[in-house]
Amino acid sequence: MCGIVGFVGKREASPILVEGLSKLEYRGYDSAGVAIIEEGDIKISKCKGRLAMLEEKLKEAPLSGAIGIGHTRWATHGEPSDLNSHPHANECGSITVVHNGIIENYLHLREWLSSKGYKFFSETDTEVIPNLVDYYYKGDLVEAVMKAVTKMEGSYAIGVITKNEPDKVVAVRKDSPLIVGLGEGEYFIASDIPAVLNHTRDIYLLNDKEFVVLTKDGVQILSEEGEEIKKEIYHVTWNADAAEKGGYEDFMLKEIHEQPKAIKDTMSSRIIPGQPISLDKINITKEELNGIDRIYIVACGTAYHAGIVGKYVIEKLAKIPVEVDIASEFRYREPIINERTLIIVISQSGETADTLAVLRESKKKDCRVIAVTNVVGSSISREADDVLYTWAGPEIAVASTKAYVTQLIAMYIIGLHFAEIKETMSKADMELIKEEMLKLPEKAEETLSHKETLQKFASKTYMHKDMFFLGRGIDYAVAMEGSLKLKEISYVHSEAYAGGELKHGPIALIEKGTIVITTLTQGFLFDKMVSNIKEVVTRGAKVMAIAFEGNNVIEKIVDSAIYIPKTLDILSPILSVIPQQLLAYYMAKQKGCDVDKPRNLAKSVTVE
Ligand code: G6P
Repeated sequence: MCGIVGFVGKREASPILVEGLSKLEYRGYDSAGVAIIEEGDIKISKCKGRLAMLEEKLKEAPLSGAIGIGHTRWATHGEPSDLNSHPHANECGSITVVHNGIIENYLHLREWLSSKGYKFFSETDTEVIPNLVDYYYKGDLVEAVMKAVTKMEGSYAIGVITKNEPDKVVAVRKDSPLIVGLGEGEYFIASDIPAVLNHTRDIYLLNDKEFVVLTKDGVQILSEEGEEIKKEIYHVTWNADAAEKGGYEDFMLKEIHEQPKAIKDTMSSRIIPGQPISLDKINITKEELNGIDRIYIVACGTAYHAGIVGKYVIEKLAKIPVEVDIASEFRYREPIINERTLIIVISQSGETADTLAVLRESKKKDCRVIAVTNVVGSSISREADDVLYTWAGPEIAVASTKAYVTQLIAMYIIGLHFAEIKETMSKADMELIKEEMLKLPEKAEETLSHKETLQKFASKTYMHKDMFFLGRGIDYAVAMEGSLKLKEISYVHSEAYAGGELKHGPIALIEKGTIVITTLTQGFLFDKMVSNIKEVVTRGAKVMAIAFEGNNVIEKIVDSAIYIPKTLDILSPILSVIPQQLLAYYMAKQKGCDVDKPRNLAKSVTVE
C-alpha cells in the first residue's frame, strides 16, 4: 500500500504535493518522492525514509514548477532505498510514474521490454510502467497510457507525466483507490480524499479503468474505449481525520474490512492454478528440504498464534514435524537445534526484539531461517536467509487483524510449497486447496456481513468479566487468537481451551451465565465439539457458535450461531477468525475503550 498525489495549476506544485503526501503517510512511509515539470524538463527528488527527509532534501535543492506527481511508499517489491523510491522513469527520463498497487506480471513485462532494449535499474514492479508507456508513446500520452494498461495485470493507481506534453498529468486506477480534486483553476489526483481537503471539497470518485487527464484548464475523464465520461461531483462534508480511516470509526475496524484485499494481495502472483507455487525470496531445494528433520515456528503474540495454525498446516500438507514456540521462551531454553532444523520466524513488524534474537541465535547454530514479515527492509527481513512477505499493507491499530490473516496465508503457501518439493500430496489435492484459497477473499467479504448479530451479542454480554473460547484442532488455534483479541482491546479476561481439555479443570468455572464462544469447523471433530457445547450448556453457559453454513443443527443448542461460508476444513481459520475479531471490537466499543490504542500495549515491541 502506498499513497500517490498529482497536481496541475498555477501555484508551485512541490509544497502542495508534499502536504498532500503528509495526509497519506498512513498508507506507507518508508520512502517518498516527487517529480516536477521544471522549465520543460522533469526533475525528480526522492529518498528513503520518512517524508520529513524528502522535505529536507527539497529545502536544500528546491524544485520549481506548477505540474507534478508525488508518492509515499510502503515497499512490496524491493527494499526501501533511494533507488526503489518512486517516482520511476524510463531510461532517458522523459516519462515519469508514481504507482500504488502491485503489477503481478511485472517479471514477464520486464523480460519482454528488456528484449526490446529497455533498461531497468530498480527492483520494483513499478519500473515497467514508464517503460511500457514509452514503448507505446507516439506523441499522445493518454493513448500510450491506455495501451500500456492493457498489458498490466494486478492492481494499480498511477499518475504519469511526460516532458513532451508538459501541461498535463494522466492517471488511471484498477483495484487501488484514486480520486480527483477539483479546485479553481487547479486540479489534483490522490489515493485518498484528505490529501486534497486543504484545497477543495469537490471530488470525482473514480471507478476502475477510468482515465483522467488533468490540465490547468480542467479535467477530462475517459473510458477505456476513449469515450468521455460525465461524473457527478461529490462534495465532502466530513473532516480529514475521519477520511484517513476511510469513513470507519477506527483503524481496527477499517483493517478488519481490508482483510479480503490483504488475503488476495498476499496470494497474488504466488498461487496460480495449474502452476507450482511461486516464491520470490524463498530458495530452498529438494535436497535442502530433505535434509531438514524438524521445523520450529517462533514468534510473539498474534504472530505466534498464526504459527500454531502453521503447525497444523505444514504437518498435514508437507509431513514435516513442526514445533511452535514463543520467542521469549525459545531464546532462553536452550532448544536442541542444528543444521537439520528449519526455523520460521513470523513478525508483522519485522522488528520484535525477542523474535529477532531467536533469528540471530538460530543462525549461530547453523539453522536456516525463513522470515514471514509484513515490512520490507525490516531487521528480520534483512537478517533471515529467506523471506516471505505478507502484503497486508501498513497495520495501524495495535491489535493485529489483517496481518494475522495474511500470516495464515503465508503458512498455507509455505505448506503447499514444501508439499510440492517433497511430493507429499497428489496434484489433484494440491489444486483443490489452491482453487479454494483463491475463493477466500470473496468468502471473507461475506463473513464480514455478520456484524449485526455480533453487535447484539456484544451489547448483551459486554459487562461480563470472564469468557471462554473453545475449539478442537485448528479451531483451537484460532480460539487462542479470538481470546487474545478480546483481552487486548476490551480488557475482558478470557481463556482459550481445547474442547477435550475442558473436563480436566476449566469446567469447574462454568456456571449460570458464563459466556462461551465455540468454533466447530472441523467435520471429523464436529460431534465431539457438540458434546463439549452440551457440557457447558448443561451448566448454564450462554454459548455463541461459529460453524460452516449448513450446520443449522447447532442452533438448537446454542444462544447465537454465526455461519461462515463453506470452505475446506483446513482453510477455515481465515474465515472463522473474522467474527471473533468483530466480537472483540464490538465488546470494546460497548465498553467505551480506545480500540486502536489499548492501554499498556505497543504495536512494535523492540525491547525485551
Ligand atoms: C505486540 C503487538 C501484537 C503483535 C506482537 C508481535 O505485542 O501488540 O499485536 O502480535 O507484538 O509483533 P510482530 O510485529 O512481531 O508480529
